[in-house]
Amino acid sequence: MRFAKRLDQVPPYLFAELERKIAAKRREGVDVISLGIGDPDLPTPEPVIAALAEGARDPATHQYPTNHGSDDFRAAAAGFYRDRFGVELDPASEIVPALGGKEAVGHVALVLLDPGDAALSPDPGYPPYTSGPLFAGAEVHYLPLERQNAFQPDLDSIPAAVLAKANVLFLNYPNNPTGAVVPDGFFEMVVSFAREHEILVVHDNAYSETTYDGYVAPSFLATPGAKEVGVEVFSLSKGYNMTGWRCAAILGNAEAIQTYWRLKTNVDSGLFEAIQMAGVAALEGPGEPLARMNAIYTRRRDLVVSALREIGVDVPSPKGTIYVWAPVPEGHTSTSFCELVLEEAAVVISPGSMYGPSGEGFFRIALTAPDDRIEEAVERMREHLS
Ligand SMILES: Cc1ncc(COP(=O)(O)O)c(C=O)c1O
Repeated sequence: MRFAKRLDQVPPYLFAELERKIAAKRREGVDVISLGIGDPDLPTPEPVIAALAEGARDPATHQYPTNHGSDDFRAAAAGFYRDRFGVELDPASEIVPALGGKEAVGHVALVLLDPGDAALSPDPGYPPYTSGPLFAGAEVHYLPLERQNAFQPDLDSIPAAVLAKANVLFLNYPNNPTGAVVPDGFFEMVVSFAREHEILVVHDNAYSETTYDGYVAPSFLATPGAKEVGVEVFSLSKGYNMTGWRCAAILGNAEAIQTYWRLKTNVDSGLFEAIQMAGVAALEGPGEPLARMNAIYTRRRDLVVSALREIGVDVPSPKGTIYVWAPVPEGHTSTSFCELVLEEAAVVISPGSMYGPSGEGFFRIALTAPDDRIEEAVERMREHLS
């Protein structure tokens, strides 16, 4: 068999490799604690499950949904954006549901990029900001995110030759993997940058509802002028414990949204209507389940951060996301340290290098295991690595 060359350009999806290692250890009888993938361990809120059950029992949902999304889903997303972020959106032209944020990010790259174009992608960053453009035949220009710059990319450092062929800028705050929140004034700077260079901004808003210490994350679309230059991907996966449900929306610039929709009518048949009904229940539901979740993550974050500091790791305490991003101890690479932690402590953490070249020298811990497992993991790391 011969397979397309585009697949050779991307490494195997990083968590596929981690899952293989965990399975091998478990087969040996080792009690492995995985703090690798960021997949909320707590159940989806009950009213969301009830809405799905009710929707699934209604035969009207059993046929192909409209790819454009139900009126109710688009209205709920518009209402949520108005109330939560102060952003006005036209449900008819500026919102389309997506089968998860990952689908939207991957397909938006196909909508915006031709061979010879370039994508500007944060480094470290969520892997589809790289694989999406590569599958489109475009090149990726990495934008390093460094702690000394508050994990904000230096847009002034992008060479003119790259700017000339760049057609998309991916951003994501609160940020995976660094846990950083958007620096003051950065989104405003991005809007003028995008205008000047005619680049579409794709802000991946996967973690706005998962924040701590009183921090409230903004939408990129709340920035004056943002809708002229960008779209936002809003996922229900992390905030509402719905990773398995594949429920998200893409919102913002009408022309970009309608073009994305045109692509999608050719590659999928829309989001199951019962899931759209569940999405409505989540978006219109009370904020109480979110607050409860965030209190749990705050406790876990504090546990992990203080344990790492005790063993001498200089780590910032993130105000958002479900990740702690920390430098590896001296003498280690990202991979050698993560292998050591797996071998010595049977704890899975992800090497920063998996998120791009600037992730080398770091590791990421996901806070998505039950409290007692996080406590046990932290205890093992303290014992084996002190
Ligand atoms: C930045 C970012 N965007 C998108 C996603 C995926 O979201 P979804 O489950 O909606 O595809 C993730 C998941 O880890 C993420 O970290």
